[in-house]
Amino acid sequence: MVQIETTSRTYKIAAIPGDGIGAEVIGAGLEVLQALQARHGGFALDVEEFEWGSDYYRRHGRMMPADGLARLADKDAIYFGAVGDPEIPDHVTLWGLRLAICQGFDQYANVRPARLLPGIESPLRGVARGDLDWVIVRENSEGEYAGAGGRVHQGLPEEVGTDVAVFTRKGVERVMRFAFELARSRPRKHLTCVTKSNAQRHGMVLWDEVFAEMAGNYPDIATDKVLVDAMTTRMVGRPRDIDTVVATNLHADILSDLAAALSGSLGIAPTANLNPEKRLPSMFEPIHGSGFDIAGKGIANPVGAFWTAAMMLDHLGEGEAAGALMNAVELALADGEAFTPDLGGNATTRQVTDKVLAALNGTNA
Ligand code: IPM
Ligand code: MG
Repeated sequence: MVQIETTSRTYKIAAIPGDGIGAEVIGAGLEVLQALQARHGGFALDVEEFEWGSDYYRRHGRMMPADGLARLADKDAIYFGAVGDPEIPDHVTLWGLRLAICQGFDQYANVRPARLLPGIESPLRGVARGDLDWVIVRENSEGEYAGAGGRVHQGLPEEVGTDVAVFTRKGVERVMRFAFELARSRPRKHLTCVTKSNAQRHGMVLWDEVFAEMAGNYPDIATDKVLVDAMTTRMVGRPRDIDTVVATNLHADILSDLAAALSGSLGIAPTANLNPEKRLPSMFEPIHGSGFDIAGKGIANPVGAFWTAAMMLDHLGEGEAAGALMNAVELALADGEAFTPDLGGNATTRQVTDKVLAALNGTNA
């Protein structure tokens, strides 16, 4: 008789659904993860849910408790929905929760893949699957989002507001190194550095210099450097000439929305906020945001949350389960029936989730 040894690797996951459609898509994601765990075996997710976000703010005057970070610190990963509420200023909700976690846990590398999934058409003419396969690495700890700056003389005619973009050699080096390593793992081994050093002659020039220095350590990676405005036209006009991209916090924020739209919809796009050394927990979230206009209607696209869950599994070292999940998502999308309204269909979150569950279980939905 053959004895099959079952090792169970247990990961502690914090789920923070947050605001708007966050709860709907994270709920769907957890359901799919549970099915995957049951089907795949070998690993288990110990999920603790935290009801932080704008409703919490209305009750307690803050987005998460004062010891929020301490309560997340021993988790292996954070599965995050969205923040944003029509009644509370965006900078309050954002800095109170999502950026507090990104910065508090030094999640300096933000990874945003964009590719055409089966059945989904790009709004770009003549672009087939495989023609658009990008990963954008977003610097996630400083730059334009460093939080440096201030307002003085508020309300007076001489009022001043400043946001100072901060680039440190250490901060730029670590994200560049991460991007080169990631480019090395990709079939085309090509890295584009996005910059604006023609107009911004301090931080952005440091950015370019560090990129060039780092390129010397990676002779196997082909590189080029593109101004951010020109990058938008390359994305639209020559998508095949892009592979891995490294960009600042703000530039990558903007380019990744464009990347998501060009690959079908913001509703499918995933992201990972990584502390690559795994000294502190990393956070995984769909990039679409809280979608208040469609919240509660059951029509949010859960694909972004599923793809995000696959990135989380990859980070945890469960690459096989991550692959199985992406296969199921691709299978579920292929015939075009599991398209939510953002993809031009009329499927509900429930229907898409059921189709992915069926694909995971090898049955038809
Ligand atoms: C993103 C989002 C956020 C950002 C918003 C919610 C502030 O657009 O994750 O891309 O700009 O970082
Ligand atoms: Mg954005």
